[in-house]
Amino acid sequence: MSTVVSGIRSTGNLHLGNYFGAVKNFIEMQHQHNTFFFIADWHSLTTHPTPADLHTNVKQVLAEYLACGIDPEKATIFIQSDVPEILELYLLLNMNAYLGELERTTSFKDKARQQPENVNAGLLTYPVLMASDILIHKAHLVPVGKDQEQNLEMARTFGRRFNRMYNVDTFPIPKSYTFEGQDMVKIPGLDGSGKMGKSEGNAISLAESPASIRKKVMKAVTDVGPTEMNQKKPEVIQNLFTLLDVVSTPDVVSHFDDAYNKCTIRYGDLKKQLAEDIINFTNPIRGRIEEITKDSEYLSKVAKNGAEKARESASKTLEEVRKIIGFRKFY
Ligand code: TYM
Repeated sequence: MSTVVSGIRSTGNLHLGNYFGAVKNFIEMQHQHNTFFFIADWHSLTTHPTPADLHTNVKQVLAEYLACGIDPEKATIFIQSDVPEILELYLLLNMNAYLGELERTTSFKDKARQQPENVNAGLLTYPVLMASDILIHKAHLVPVGKDQEQNLEMARTFGRRFNRMYNVDTFPIPKSYTFEGQDMVKIPGLDGSGKMGKSEGNAISLAESPASIRKKVMKAVTDVGPTEMNQKKPEVIQNLFTLLDVVSTPDVVSHFDDAYNKCTIRYGDLKKQLAEDIINFTNPIRGRIEEITKDSEYLSKVAKNGAEKARESASKTLEEVRKIIGFRKFY
């Protein structure tokens, strides 16, 4: 049995990218493995949310996790800030994380470009906190989307470095997990950009109303249409097919694929179908989100149990790490 850790920042509603990039794999894994799934509320501080938003977002994401099918009886679901052990490991790992390597990460460079007025140290050490989330439970597997590949690589680096420095094998080297060994998933945006994301403003959330889904999909960027039989799809069109692939049945996908190859495709039809299939997929989840959000007692029970289980696992690792580094009590 492997240990699995994955998390999501609490910066807004879960979207299709989060679901197909990470949550779906995690749901499959909770039946066979020792799984930890958490809400990264410390990570969300890099963009300075208001106190009211911080709390509302954590609650929303917790309800959305549960609505997706993460089962608190099987997985440990917890909120990052309920587990202070993560912060101590973060501090310890920071001592062996070098400025140069942190500055070179693409996510840091991207964020520094996106928010030049707020290039804080938390952004710089973001991968160290993420490594701590993973290593504190001695994870073997981390289900994440393609955009987290580099952060995961850094978690491996920090784990390996610690093991080497103290000549121990405390940390397993965590691997990304994808279903049936497929490539890591990247769900595109509908605006022609490469990635669906909260901060990109192009996301379809799991809680979104059908009317809003239809509107967004119908506005998706397309081109003038294929002019030659069997031509390669340009990125904006491939994006629509990638979305169709995850929410529609294979016969629907091949119908539109054939139409594209024969130059008879009508993008309006494709978009209508895509919107309806997204709605069919999100509808039951949306219903459950509404129910669970109202049940504050259930949410607090889940969070409390999760925090206890996560702290138990985290404190074991931390004890071991403290000893290895040389901390000993005088009393
Ligand atoms: P976050 O909150 O941006 O995204 C959560 C998960 O969703 C995946 N994801 C996507 N996958 C495919 N296509 C997309 N368009 C897409 N958008 C998001 C992400 O890859 C991720 O798996 N740093 C992390 C949160 C985190 C974490 C961790 C994850 C903190 N500590 C430890 C795993 C382990 C983040 O910002 O994800």
